[in-house]
Amino acid sequence: MNKVSDILQKHNLNKDEIVHLLQLNREDSKLLFSKAQEVKEKYVGNTVYLRGLVEFSNMCRKNCLYCGIRAGNTNVNRYDLSDEAIIDAAVYSWKQRFGSIVLQSGECKNEKFSMRIENLLKTIHSKTNNELGVTLSLGEQSYDTFRRWRNAGAHRYLLRIEASNRELYNKLHPHTQVHDYDERLASLKALRDADYQVGSGTMIGLPFQTTEHLADDLLFLRDFDIDMVGMGPYIEHEDTPLFTYRHQLSPQKERFFMTLKMIAILRILVPDINMAAATALQAIDPVGREKAIQIGANVIMPNVTPAINRNDYLLYDNKPCTDEGADDCVDCIDARVRMAGNTIAYGEKGNPLHYYARKSVC
Ligand code: 5AD
Ligand code: SF4
Ligand code: FES
Repeated sequence: MNKVSDILQKHNLNKDEIVHLLQLNREDSKLLFSKAQEVKEKYVGNTVYLRGLVEFSNMCRKNCLYCGIRAGNTNVNRYDLSDEAIIDAAVYSWKQRFGSIVLQSGECKNEKFSMRIENLLKTIHSKTNNELGVTLSLGEQSYDTFRRWRNAGAHRYLLRIEASNRELYNKLHPHTQVHDYDERLASLKALRDADYQVGSGTMIGLPFQTTEHLADDLLFLRDFDIDMVGMGPYIEHEDTPLFTYRHQLSPQKERFFMTLKMIAILRILVPDINMAAATALQAIDPVGREKAIQIGANVIMPNVTPAINRNDYLLYDNKPCTDEGADDCVDCIDARVRMAGNTIAYGEKGNPLHYYARKSVC
């Protein structure tokens, strides 16, 4: 038996073993991918859950050095959808039997915003017969705000740790009070305490990032008992400070391949989580999300943002689905999932099994 198949006999991989798997070449990675495929089928089935993604505003108070909609980028046409348009997108997702939506925006932190989201949650639930799972992705907030939104019917929250290594995190964010690694961790903990299904994740192929950092990211997600994960390749954006380091990056195809290995390893490490096939994968490879579905991911987020606003939510260059409307994505996604040998679970919320496992007392 070679070393790879030895390692793949177990679920509780250590850091050295993870690093070894992350360094596999294309030929040897086939063993990793087929093992991850097997684990996925056994634990979560070849089923894909949909979340209609509403990118309702690109206003943001932060200045993450990698992000195209950072507050300091004056080349962005800022928008904020009306409540009506957000509710329409939610109702559309419900009628399409997506089962869930994600409300995402840049980070705003004030009472007016908290209240607005609280009211939106209540209206969305009443207009969709309480049948929609609602995920929020609105950045760092206080425990009280998280709790209010939870009480108003939000079930899940996505907050990527971006890079679990403190030094690396500090290189990717300006050193100001609003970009504090400890605050990020505190928010993730507050989400747990407020009884959310908690999602996190990282970017892969960042400048200054090593294979050891990536292995630690996977162990962080496992040890934090994260229920849902979204990991995607870092893609440079020309209007960001990090663009200066573009010459130090591995080629996009390598970042893509590394992301697939990260997804496959995490499926083996924590078999019962939900894992998204990140849209950024498709910015590099036209069938990137399908490849992720084949080797471990089980969630896709079709974009249901009104078509006129999509081109203003550009976190990175080459973002796909920006010229399409919601109907185009719906038609396209069913065929794509079938191509990957999976089936969409229409009308199901698709809660992560991991959440129930960690909540059960015996
Ligand atoms: N490349 C890839 N992903 C990015 N994000 C932000 N900027 C980029 C980029 N340049 C990701 C972050 C954030 C999520 C909403 O988008 O991980 O959490
Ligand atoms: Fe704002 Fe999120 Fe972009 Fe950071 S990654 S600048 S918090 S939208
Ligand atoms: Fe958006 Fe295919 S998923 S056009």
